[in-house]
Amino acid sequence: MNPDSITIGRPDDWHLHLRDGAALRAVLPHTAERFARAIVMPNLKPPVTTTVLAGEYRQRILDARPDGSDFEPLMTLYLTDRTPPAEVERARASGFVHGFKLYPAGATTHSDAGVTDVRHIDPVLARMAELGVVLQVHGEVTEESVDVFDREARFIDDVLAPLAARHPALRIVFEHITTRAAVDFVRSARDGIAATLTPQHLLHNRNAMFAGGIRPHFYCLPVLKTEPDRAALLEAATSGDPRFFLGTDSAPHARHTKENSCGCAGMYSAHAGLELYAEAFDAAGALDRLDGFAHRFGADFYRLPRNAGTVTLWRRPTAVPASFVFGDAELVPMRAGGQLAWTLRRDPMPATR
Ligand code: DOR
Ligand code: ZN
Repeated sequence: MNPDSITIGRPDDWHLHLRDGAALRAVLPHTAERFARAIVMPNLKPPVTTTVLAGEYRQRILDARPDGSDFEPLMTLYLTDRTPPAEVERARASGFVHGFKLYPAGATTHSDAGVTDVRHIDPVLARMAELGVVLQVHGEVTEESVDVFDREARFIDDVLAPLAARHPALRIVFEHITTRAAVDFVRSARDGIAATLTPQHLLHNRNAMFAGGIRPHFYCLPVLKTEPDRAALLEAATSGDPRFFLGTDSAPHARHTKENSCGCAGMYSAHAGLELYAEAFDAAGALDRLDGFAHRFGADFYRLPRNAGTVTLWRRPTAVPASFVFGDAELVPMRAGGQLAWTLRRDPMPATR
């Protein structure tokens, strides 16, 4: 069946880059229009390493919301080799920090201050497990000698599986998974391990980066993988398994920093953050599974209430601009100059007596 519309519970984005300043003001309306809440990544320059910094960043996000928006940022802290276990206590007590992000040093954009060896943070991870704070993981090894397409699979064997075994009570989100190996790992893992999936990894394989020439707007990290990997990710996302949920990893970069001899990693999808998933789920004949993936499973994993209210997607094409204003620069979104198959509407809340 191909329904002309689908209504789901108001969704959340469990992995998002909002940046700061003019960039934040440019991108936040797209997310706030679609999602009630988002897990906000801490890889600013300098990174958000303390609860105090996260509180200040949260306030800047709240101040940048469009008028009338009730969007709620869920903050994360950036782990370094020197994060003290006491920071976990401060984060937990704040009520607004919902996880700590592990970036292996050098793995991706603004990760130079990340963790050089996960053994350094074992005391922090132990405290997180005790206090029920979630670990979010960028899962790639950084060794030069490891092929860029193998870095996620190697990370599972070398880092993530041993880490999960050393900390059996730690709840872990394996972020933006890109491989069949990662799907298999999550499926066979102990309780308390989940994964987010991006729209680009559900819709595209690595050929997209090289179609007719080099296409920097399809470059993100972890990089797009093979067609069998994409198929495994789509199967996991649409399977109804609550361990797989929505995280766009929308990561804006100015056009000139991507169309560059050393282009930045990251794809911008917040303008279509739900619509692109609807296309992927529709192609798999699984629109009835979108509610779990976008509305229920992430909230349940993070032990947060599910959102009230609904949104409706209509099978009506919407044009995507060639670019958006991004401070003094331009931002090229996913599907730039093309069309989305679905149009989104937030439904009015039912009248209460
Ligand atoms: O492609 C990416 N862009 N991957 C990341 O892990 C970071 C992100 C960014 O911040 O631009
Ligand atoms: Zn990210």
